[in-house]
Amino acid sequence: MTAPIAAIIEQDAATITNYMTSYFASLSGPASQLHEAMAYGALNGGKRVRASLTLSAARLALAQQEKAVDEASLQPAIIAAAALEFIHAYSLIHDDLPAMDDADTRRGKPSAHIAFDEATAILAGDALQTEAFLLLTNDALPVAVSHQLIRLLASASGAAGMAGGQMRDLQADEAARQGKPFTAAETEEMQAMKTGALIAAAPVMGAVAVGGAAGLQDDLYQFAAPLGLAFQIADDLLDVTQDGAALGKPAGRDKDQGKASFVDFYGLGGAQEFAEKLMNDSLSALAPYGDGADELHQIAHFVINRSH
Ligand code: IPE
Ligand code: IPE
Ligand code: MG
Ligand code: MG
Ligand code: MG
Repeated sequence: MTAPIAAIIEQDAATITNYMTSYFASLSGPASQLHEAMAYGALNGGKRVRASLTLSAARLALAQQEKAVDEASLQPAIIAAAALEFIHAYSLIHDDLPAMDDADTRRGKPSAHIAFDEATAILAGDALQTEAFLLLTNDALPVAVSHQLIRLLASASGAAGMAGGQMRDLQADEAARQGKPFTAAETEEMQAMKTGALIAAAPVMGAVAVGGAAGLQDDLYQFAAPLGLAFQIADDLLDVTQDGAALGKPAGRDKDQGKASFVDFYGLGGAQEFAEKLMNDSLSALAPYGDGADELHQIAHFVINRSH
């Protein structure tokens, strides 16, 4: 019997937060304001869902290889999860900037550009991005693994992934202002890029980090790609159904800002149903693994039923 998913996510979150905390503590040199802003953006709460996907997938991959699952065997996946969370934190810092979503709060605190200033927030995002790739060159990772992880993370966060999706998100705002809103297909493509790609990479990176089989890596991708889209649909639903205090970030803003969202196309019930359909697609990719994939199943349920 696996522990309840909330406890697993909490434990994984603590592991990754500890790792990141030590990393920030090790930064030295004169740019201490930058270090503080990086730590502020990366450590200030966060559900660490991506890290949990990485670590749960690594546990499955280790079990498949009949290897022990402990802190030492998980270390490469911990590094990969921290790198993913660095990229995610950078994406949030930049997402909140006045030139993007202009959001003053994040994770229940002033956004980085409010707590520091805009230029520092931009640099903190830049540095978190590059430090993510530095983490992946850690000597604890075999060079071939390091190379594969860098490729996965770069393609998920680059022009065809998160950054490209954020570009499309801003273009959707502009298209809506001009009376030519994105279609459902364009919205799905944008969501899959801006949020789906990093989530899709998360469990694959966990398996790669601990030497998981190619077949498992493929199945994890089939699991996580629809889940990534479902994650953004849940985020868009929460923007409508929750308040800013519950979310720790401004609520009810997507409509005002003309954001393309599935809630517009299908309504609240329809968007929830679509997220559930995507989750079922996700779960079917893990059917061959039976109970071994229980944690990943539970994370998938958490993704679409979460309250923040
Ligand atoms: C929020 O992501 C931004 C999206 C990509 C939808 P999360 O909901 O994972 O944010 P944190 O890390 O828990 O704050
Ligand atoms: C952000 O989507 C996706 C990112 C790549 C950061 P949102 O703009 O909806 O995320 P929130 O609602 O601000 O967290
Ligand atoms: Mg945004
Ligand atoms: Mg935003
Ligand atoms: Mg949102």
